[in-house]
Amino acid sequence: MNSNSEIIIKAENVTKKFSGLVAVNNVSFSLKKNEVAGLIGANGAGKTTFFNILTGNLIPEGGKIFYKDQDITKLSPERRVALGIMRTFQLASTFDNLKVIDNLRLAYYKAHCPSSLSHTFFSRIDRIVSDKIDQSLTTFNLAKFAYRNTENISLGEKRILEIAMALITDPEVLLLDEPFAGLSEAEIDEVLAVLGEQTHKQTILIVEHKISKIRDLVERVGVMVEGEMIAAGKTDEVLNDPRVLKEYWHMVD
Ligand SMILES: Nc1ncnc2c1ncn2[C@@H]1O[C@H](COP(=O)(O)OP(=O)(O)OP(=O)(O)O)[C@@H](O)[C@H]1O
Ligand SMILES: [Mg+2]
Repeated sequence: MNSNSEIIIKAENVTKKFSGLVAVNNVSFSLKKNEVAGLIGANGAGKTTFFNILTGNLIPEGGKIFYKDQDITKLSPERRVALGIMRTFQLASTFDNLKVIDNLRLAYYKAHCPSSLSHTFFSRIDRIVSDKIDQSLTTFNLAKFAYRNTENISLGEKRILEIAMALITDPEVLLLDEPFAGLSEAEIDEVLAVLGEQTHKQTILIVEHKISKIRDLVERVGVMVEGEMIAAGKTDEVLNDPRVLKEYWHMVD
């Protein structure tokens, strides 16, 4: 096995412009299997644009995206999800009138047997699926809310439910754009604990404005400034990189 075979997703010299503005400028970045990585940068640095290029919501004008050596630069978001590249859709993915456990069941069935989405599908849940759901409720500390309507849990709990719903599909990669947005400090800690449980078990990329939130979680980090990836590598090394010290820290404090 060569070291390249461990790379799950790779961006190579990716560029995206919006009518003259270079939002992402010749960016290269890769994610290795079971690595938890971060992408940081100030407002407008190009993080979400780059994230959307990874998910397929935007197609770059230049450069390529590879998934395990397959060129997926022009694949639709749906095709990428089918390959195992999952993202959370903030607050759009939960059905608030359903119980927490039913949101998990729905996410599971959508991923594993889309054709069974009929009025009878809840009654056809077999033993394996209910074990899987129970395991997810336990892993993500959602068991105590399992039978509560989703509209009656907190925003932090909902964010955790969204992550649980994404992971119940057994994706290869989970992409999260600002998973802490709108959360209290206590809620951020809860989400961090849940993500920490996935370390070395799941490939995760977290887009976040401030490094302070994710510093203890991410093994590797990329820093974007004005569309460019100015440094990428092991977290401690990158945070001490002269260009990062000069161009990143003052922008986010
Ligand atoms: N659809 C679009 N049309 C035009 N310009 C856009 C579009 N999306 C983003 N931009 C511009 O591209 C640049 C990068 O934006 P992007 O949203 O990727 O930054 P970001 O790093 O995610 O910022 P934030 O931390 O605020 O989320 C910004 O100047 C933004 O105004
Ligand atoms: Mg953004």
